[in-house]
Amino acid sequence: MPLKHIAILGSTGSIGQSTLSIVESFPQRFAVASLAAGRNLDLAFEQARRWRPAVVSMATEKLAADLAARLKAAGISGIEVVHGSAGTVRVATLPQVDFVVSAIVGVAGLEATYAAVLAGKPVGLANKEAMVAAGELLTAAARAKNLPLLPIDSEHNAVHQCMRAGSLPEIKQIWLTASGGPFRTLPLAEFEHITVAQALKHPTWVMGRRITIDSATMLNKGLEIIEACRLFDLPPSAVKVTVHPQSTVHSLVEYIDGSLLAQISVTDMRLPILYAMTWPERVASDLTFDMASLSQLTFETPDFERFPCLRLAYEAAEKGGAHTIALNAADEIAVEAFLAGQIPFLGIPRTIERVLETTPVTHPATIQEVLALDRQSRQTASEVLSHFSHASAGASRH
Ligand SMILES: NC(=O)c1ccc[n+]([C@@H]2O[C@H](COP(=O)([O-])OP(=O)(O)OC[C@H]3O[C@@H](n4cnc5c(N)ncnc54)[C@H](OP(=O)(O)O)[C@@H]3O)[C@@H](O)[C@H]2O)c1
Repeated sequence: MPLKHIAILGSTGSIGQSTLSIVESFPQRFAVASLAAGRNLDLAFEQARRWRPAVVSMATEKLAADLAARLKAAGISGIEVVHGSAGTVRVATLPQVDFVVSAIVGVAGLEATYAAVLAGKPVGLANKEAMVAAGELLTAAARAKNLPLLPIDSEHNAVHQCMRAGSLPEIKQIWLTASGGPFRTLPLAEFEHITVAQALKHPTWVMGRRITIDSATMLNKGLEIIEACRLFDLPPSAVKVTVHPQSTVHSLVEYIDGSLLAQISVTDMRLPILYAMTWPERVASDLTFDMASLSQLTFETPDFERFPCLRLAYEAAEKGGAHTIALNAADEIAVEAFLAGQIPFLGIPRTIERVLETTPVTHPATIQEVLALDRQSRQTASEVLSHFSHASAGASRH
């Protein structure tokens, strides 16, 4: 069996490290071709030393120079060190790359993911923000090239698996499961006082900081609704959410005859990554599921009052284009502000709602237009945030 050469965008992150652990477990199947990291110089250096990729990219020129110097000092040669978005594009499009794992967080991963598709590379997609901002363009490019976009997000991966049982016209709707995050049962009156530490404690998954906060607001599920519409060519009305605190059923597909197919597996992202990297094959793994843990599975209707981000996401999904770009951009800015202690937890949905109110209904035709709309939305979000802080400073003076 020929080795599959993998490019990992976001190699130093949670998904990136899980991908490297899959490569480690299946050395007869996979090799690392290239890596793109952000700012974690120590880990990027360790990964470069361990995996000897042809190219490594860092977020900035300074970090790239530092990495190159450290590699030289360690006597390691033959690794090209690049940086910035051109660097991530190079990592994704190297001729020897057979498969790209797209796992940079946020819209920073968009250009390289799109470039990978244009270069004819099959992509395993964890970077849901790329699909939310530019899914219409990404899926069109992949379809035109007859390339798979294989979801790594566990819910979409589950849907992908369940969809192998029928055809698109046979599907009535899909059900994305949501853990409900840490505040599923918190009294509404306490939402104003949620701290960063509380919001960073996810009940079932260990993930990066932004996605963990997005799970607490359920904006993450909102992004997934939009991602599902684009990946599977479904209208928002055919993408439902059910709250399933055990995170055991990863999602379901409901067929027109009344059958519901569910995918169940361990709560471990290595499984959807392995599925995407080996599709259309399935390979034996040690990621086995303990049937005893099936003793209690519960499902609840999501509470739209508690989680306004879900409503905002459905509204953005209906409008598409600039609205889904703005939803993601405003959230990214608001989550950063929340993590920095600048706004309260409820400031996140409030910021997103204000930004969406001022967003025009328009559909960008190029990635450059997507990025311009993204910048505009971030600018609006920052202005909204400064109004919030002035308002709260004013309130605290009285
Ligand atoms: N973690 C999960 O279980 C999970 C599940 C489903 C989907 N996802 C999705 O997968 C993506 C990654 O999530 P994660 O949890 O792995 O996030 P994470 O742990 O925060 O990792 C993010 C990765 O992106 C890199 N990065 C950030 N900004 C960059 C930039 N400007 N240029 C290049 N690289 C940059 C980071 O590099 P440095 O660390 O070096 O700065 C890191 O490697 C997200 O889109 C998330 O929604 C994650």
